[in-house]
Amino acid sequence: MKITVVGAGAVGASCAEYIAIKNFAAEVVLLDIKEGYAEGKAMDLMQTASLNGFDTKITGTTNDYSKTANSDICVITSGIPRKPGMTREELIGINAGIVRTVSANLIEHSPNTIIIVVSNPMDTMTYLVHKTTGLPKNRIIGMGGALDSARFKYRLAEALEAPISDVDGMVIGGHSDKGMVPLTRLATRNSVPVTEFISDERLNQVKEDTKVGGATLTKLLGTSAWYAPGAAVSGLVQAIACDLHKIYPCSALLEGEYGLSDLCIGVPVMLGKNGIEKIVEIELNEAEKAHLAESAAGVSKTNGLLDV
Ligand code: LAC
Repeated sequence: MKITVVGAGAVGASCAEYIAIKNFAAEVVLLDIKEGYAEGKAMDLMQTASLNGFDTKITGTTNDYSKTANSDICVITSGIPRKPGMTREELIGINAGIVRTVSANLIEHSPNTIIIVVSNPMDTMTYLVHKTTGLPKNRIIGMGGALDSARFKYRLAEALEAPISDVDGMVIGGHSDKGMVPLTRLATRNSVPVTEFISDERLNQVKEDTKVGGATLTKLLGTSAWYAPGAAVSGLVQAIACDLHKIYPCSALLEGEYGLSDLCIGVPVMLGKNGIEKIVEIELNEAEKAHLAESAAGVSKTNGLLDV
């Protein structure tokens, strides 16, 4: 299994590191436009191999896409991250051009690849890859919901004063501060609805803290986060590489599912060797449907800024 990660910045490097540590892939290629940068990150990561006990071979390249040839999975993290106070949507101008070029280069060398889009505004960048590459829809996946759900679980565990392994929960909708739809009604602590343990008011606070999870970190760090985004991508990559049929919320092209079409937005999907094996349609209540529809309207508005 060969995996390419484009962008050797913080998110791309963490993604490569978590993939390697999980030790399921033969090879990870890191590619960056900055001279020597991906090579340096790859060498540093390889020098952790004997310490961390992995055999995955990580190599780096400065913009040479021939080194990525025949990748099974390609992850696009390239583009500029947001600065404190910025929304993900404000990155569209620069990132759309980058994602368009990167995806075309990747497909030229790996026509059978599955693409995972991380660059922001992620749902719109995923849609852009659909519009410009012609890859089948099961092979284009946007990473946002897995990360937002991890942040939701962190906040739930904090509110419940519970270990994280005791909680479960999912965030669907757009990967934006306003667009996320944390499904509080379905969140559980060891199979028991969390509403049995905390007040509606506290649960609402969890929901609001989850939605600004990325913005809170951007304010603290001065740039956007990388550990949880990298770990979330590595989970999707592993589910595909190992054909796990695991369910993650991911940005997928909808064609009528959830009453939505012609956009990519976060919904539960089953991931396996073909990428998106299935879009899982769960029954939402009226409030959740309305929130998802509002989120979709926001994503479509951002998609309208694309030149496709
Ligand atoms: C975040 C970026 C990856 O939410 O969108 O941290």
